[in-house]
Amino acid sequence: MTSRKPRVVLGVSAGIAAYKVCELLRRLTESGHDVTVVPTEDALRFVGEPTWAALSGNPVSTAVWDGVAQVPHVRLGQGADLVFVAPATADLLARAAHGLADDLLTNTLLTARCPVVFAPAMHTEMWEHPATRANVATLRERGAIVVEPASGRLTGKDTGPGRLPDPAELFEVARRVLARGSAGHDLAGRHVVVSAGGTREPLDPVRFLGNRSSGLQGYALARTAVARGARVTLVAANVALPDPAGARVVPAGSAEDMRKAVLEAAGDADAVVMAAAVADFRPVDYRDSKIKKTEGGEPEPIRLAKNPDILAELGERRRAGQVIVGFAAETDDVLANGRAKLARKRSDLLVVNQVGADLTFGRPDNAAVILGADGSSTEVERGAKEALADVVWDLVAARLDPLPAD
Ligand code: CTP
Repeated sequence: MTSRKPRVVLGVSAGIAAYKVCELLRRLTESGHDVTVVPTEDALRFVGEPTWAALSGNPVSTAVWDGVAQVPHVRLGQGADLVFVAPATADLLARAAHGLADDLLTNTLLTARCPVVFAPAMHTEMWEHPATRANVATLRERGAIVVEPASGRLTGKDTGPGRLPDPAELFEVARRVLARGSAGHDLAGRHVVVSAGGTREPLDPVRFLGNRSSGLQGYALARTAVARGARVTLVAANVALPDPAGARVVPAGSAEDMRKAVLEAAGDADAVVMAAAVADFRPVDYRDSKIKKTEGGEPEPIRLAKNPDILAELGERRRAGQVIVGFAAETDDVLANGRAKLARKRSDLLVVNQVGADLTFGRPDNAAVILGADGSSTEVERGAKEALADVVWDLVAARLDPLPAD
């Protein structure tokens, strides 16, 4: 049986980040997508037509006047499985939000009935301007996914939000949005907070008490939530992974840092998922200078104090309608311990996985039972951490109150 290649229209508007999109295009074509690149006229000042044509293997046009007999201004949008615009400039977002149709790309955006993703890139001032904010809000309301730009070095000496996310991460967004297809962006209009990684509790300037969490499951939750249309805040403790495209990443070191960051982000969140391994204890005495070994003597014992339980605090403080999800790593009596923990921490859902030396930590796959406060139990067979993440979001989405109609 042959199935046709997924058709992607890759819109490119006139930002210097266009050069990074060559890498996104290469990833799309190499993974079996049929990609038609539709640049704006000015985008070609940054990367020329031959580059897009050679990398895509398809003809490239910017105007509605080429090949009129094939009615390209309608055909491309109608036939696409995904329209992905990267970089999306402030001007392109404005034209799209206002329904202008003055070139092939904006015509394609009007005729597309498939998922549409915009990956904006511009200077921070332009991104934060009320006109751009309003245009982004309009596009999101109409069902488009507008990926939050990354923060960091911009063209010139500026730094701030406005960078195009890493092309490999943009590819992940495209792949996931395509895979979801008609399942759609059920988290559109929602703010979700995900914690990931493992906290480190400092002993002295060079040592800490830590744990083996890699952050892979939390990052998978963030990536899948972006692809389902959510605004995502990812509170990351000591994770050595690339930032997921579209998520706002807030770094946290210790449990106390994480508590502050999570509680602050949770203020307006529709859901909070605590996938991080938070240390239960921290050393009581932090030494400003490195602890030296005492010549010939015995080492000093380390006294520990209890850390705040962030998940329990979220359960106590939750605002109406907020869905709280915890994770539990158990080695024995997995289900009984999970049920007790779910009740103790007043969560709506608890993802329980069995851990051992060779299970879960740092592995790309995971298996779990997801317990619900309503008595439900959902078994997720061993598979990619993203697959588990999608089941978590399915269960969260089913528990969210409907969005207010405007
Ligand atoms: N958690 C938290 N704050 C802590 C400890 C844990 O928010 N100080 C969260 C974790 O992010 C996870 C859940 O609580 O979502 C379960 O963590 P776990 O350490 O397994 O739970 P404990 O209540 O500490 O139970 P025990 O150590 O007895 O297994």
